[in-house]
Amino acid sequence: MEYKVKDISLAPKGKLMVEWAEQHMPVLRHIRQKYSEEKPLKGIKIAACMHVTKETAVLMLTLRDAGAEVALSASNPLSTQDPVAAYLATEGISIFAWRGMKEDEYFEAIARAASIGPNITMDDGGDLTVMIHKLAHGITEGIDYRIGKEFLSSDIAKGIYGGTEETTTGVIRLKALEKDGKLLYPVIAVNDSKTKYMFDNRYGTGQSSLDGILRATNILFAGKNVVVAGYGWVGRGIAWRAKGLGARVLVVEPDPIKALEAYYDGFYVSDMSTAAELGDVFITATGNRDVIRTEHFLKMKSGAILANAGHFNVEISVADLEKIAVSKRKINENVEEYLLPNNRRLYLIAEGRLVNLAAAEGHPSEVMDLSFGNQALAVKTLLKKHVSLRPKVYRLPGSIDRKIAYIKLKALGVKIEKLTPEQKKYLESWSS
Ligand SMILES: NC(=O)c1ccc[n+]([C@@H]2O[C@H](COP(=O)([O-])OP(=O)(O)OC[C@H]3O[C@@H](n4cnc5c(N)ncnc54)[C@H](O)[C@@H]3O)[C@@H](O)[C@H]2O)c1
Repeated sequence: MEYKVKDISLAPKGKLMVEWAEQHMPVLRHIRQKYSEEKPLKGIKIAACMHVTKETAVLMLTLRDAGAEVALSASNPLSTQDPVAAYLATEGISIFAWRGMKEDEYFEAIARAASIGPNITMDDGGDLTVMIHKLAHGITEGIDYRIGKEFLSSDIAKGIYGGTEETTTGVIRLKALEKDGKLLYPVIAVNDSKTKYMFDNRYGTGQSSLDGILRATNILFAGKNVVVAGYGWVGRGIAWRAKGLGARVLVVEPDPIKALEAYYDGFYVSDMSTAAELGDVFITATGNRDVIRTEHFLKMKSGAILANAGHFNVEISVADLEKIAVSKRKINENVEEYLLPNNRRLYLIAEGRLVNLAAAEGHPSEVMDLSFGNQALAVKTLLKKHVSLRPKVYRLPGSIDRKIAYIKLKALGVKIEKLTPEQKKYLESWSS
C-alpha cells in the first residue's frame, strides 16, 4: 500500500471527522455492516477518483470492509480534506491526495491510484475514465495522456469490468464517449439515480454552495441580488436556498422549459448580459464553459462576488478575468480581488473551482449517504452483471432507488402510506 498525503500526523483529526460523517449516514452504515459480513467484493480492485471528504472516506472504508483493495485520488485539486486523507492512509487505502495540488500532481495522483490495475473504476467528473480511454485509444494530446503513459499500460482497460460516475458533467463526458463508439466498458451513471440528483445536486449543493460563499466572505445574503446561472438540479437548489436567506434571485437559463419553471417559481429570469449589471453575487451551476466572460465582467457593479458550483473551473472564465484585470490581490485564503480597467473590483472565490468543496466541506453527510449508498450498490451490481452488460452508460434500476429511500426513511423514523390491494388494483386498471 502506497500513499501521498499532506501530513500523516493529521490522521487522528481525520478519524473524528469520518466518525462524525458516519453517524449521519445510516444507509451507508447499513450497507457497510452487511458487506462486512458477506465480503461481496473479495479480491476486487477499485480505483476511485473522488473528492476526498469525510463522507467519501466512509464509502472507501465500506468498500474495503466488503473485501476490495481500494486506491483513491482526488477529483479536484482544492477539494481534499487533508486530515481525512491522512486517516485513510492509516486505514489501508492507497491514497494520493492533498489540498492545493498542481495540475501535474493532480493527474499523477490519478495515474498512481489507477496503477493498482482496477477491476472497477469510480469517478467524479470523468478524469480517471478519460485518462484510461485516451491511453487505450492512443489519443495523445493533453497532460492526462502524457502523465498517464508514465504510470500505466495502454491495455489497462482490459482488466476493468465496469465503472461508476458520480456527477452530471462526468455523465455528459461518458455519453460523448459512448456516442463516438469509444467507451470500452459499462459504466453506471450514479448521478442519474433519483436518490442522487434530486437530493445531492439540489439540497446538498444548494446549501453547501452558500456555505462556501459565507465562509469565504461572511456577507449578508438578505437584500442581495443573487444571479444563479443554470436552473438544473444544482441551480434550483441554490436559487431556493438563496431566496430562503432573503436574497432577490435572478435566474439565467437557456432551456425555455426550465426558464419558465424558474419564472413560475417566483424568480426573475433574464439573460446574463442583463443580469451582469444587476447582480451582487453570481453563482454558476451549468456544467458549461464561459458562462460569465469579459463582456459580463465589464458590466458588473464594483464589489460583485463570483462563485462556481459546477464541476469544472471553466464556467467563470478566469482566463478572461486575468486578461482584463489591471491588478489582483488575495483578500483571504479563498477570495481574490481583481481590479478592472473601469476601476471596479470583482471578487472571485476559490479560483472559480466548486465553491462548496473548495471553500466549505462539500455536501452534508446526510445527502452523501444517499449518493454513496448508490455508489456501493452500483459496484455490487457491476460485479454481478458485468458479463452481460455492453460498453454503455447505464442507470441503476428503480428498485435500488426505492430500496435506498426506504432505508433512509426507516432511519429517519418516517412512516409512509401503504396502498390497500384495492387501491393498487385501481391504479393498474383502465376499465374502472
Ligand atoms: N458542486 C457540487 O458538489 C456538485 C454537485 C452535483 C453536481 N455538480 C455539477 O454542477 C453542474 C450542474 O449540474 P446539474 O445536475 O444541475 O445539471 P443539469 O443538467 O440538471 O443543469 C444544468 C443547467 O445549466 C443550463 N445551462 C447550460 N449552459 C448555460 C449557460 N451558458 N447559462 C446558463 N445556464 C446554462 C442547462 O440548460 C441546464 O438547465 C455540473 O457540472 C455537475 O457536475 C456539482
